[in-house]
Amino acid sequence: MNFKPIYAAALAALSFAGAHAQDVSAGKTVYAQCAACHSIDGTNGAGPSLKGVDGRKVGSFPGFRYSRAMKATAYNWDAAKLEAYIANPQTAIPGNVMPYSGLADAKQRADLVAYLQSLK
Ligand code: HEC
Repeated sequence: MNFKPIYAAALAALSFAGAHAQDVSAGKTVYAQCAACHSIDGTNGAGPSLKGVDGRKVGSFPGFRYSRAMKATAYNWDAAKLEAYIANPQTAIPGNVMPYSGLADAKQRADLVAYLQSLK
C-alpha cells in the first residue's frame, strides 16, 4: 500500500484553495494603484469602471470615451488578457491611452487579476 500520492494530491488541493482566497485580498491591496482612475461600482472616472470587467468586450463599458485602439480590440477580457495588459499596456494593446506603464511583479499581477475577476 502506498498512500503518498493521495496524500500529496490532497495537500496540493488544500494549499491551492487557501492560496486562492489570499490572492483576492492581496490583489485588492495591489488595486490601490488603479483605484484613482477606476471605480468598482459602475461609475466612470479618468478610466472606465472595472465592475464586471471579466468576460466583457474590451472597450465597451457604457458612457466611457475609449481610445480608437481600445475600441478596435476585438476580444473579451479574461485572466490571460488582463494579465498581459497589466504587465505592459502598450505591448498588449498598442495605442491605448491608459497612463500606466505596467506592473512588473508577476505575483502581484496574478493577485490583482484574481481580484478583478471577483468584481461582479
Ligand atoms: C492614471 C489613470 C489610470 C490608472 C492609474 C490605471 N488606469 Fe486602467 N485605464 C485608464 C484609462 C484612461 C483607460 C482607457 C484607455 C483607452 O481608452 O485607451 C483604462 C483602461 C483599462 C482597462 C480596459 C477596461 C475596458 O473597459 O475595456 C483595464 C482592464 C484597466 N484599465 C485596468 C487597470 C488596472 C488593473 C490598473 C492598476 C494596475 C489600471 N488600469 C490603472 C486609466 C488608468
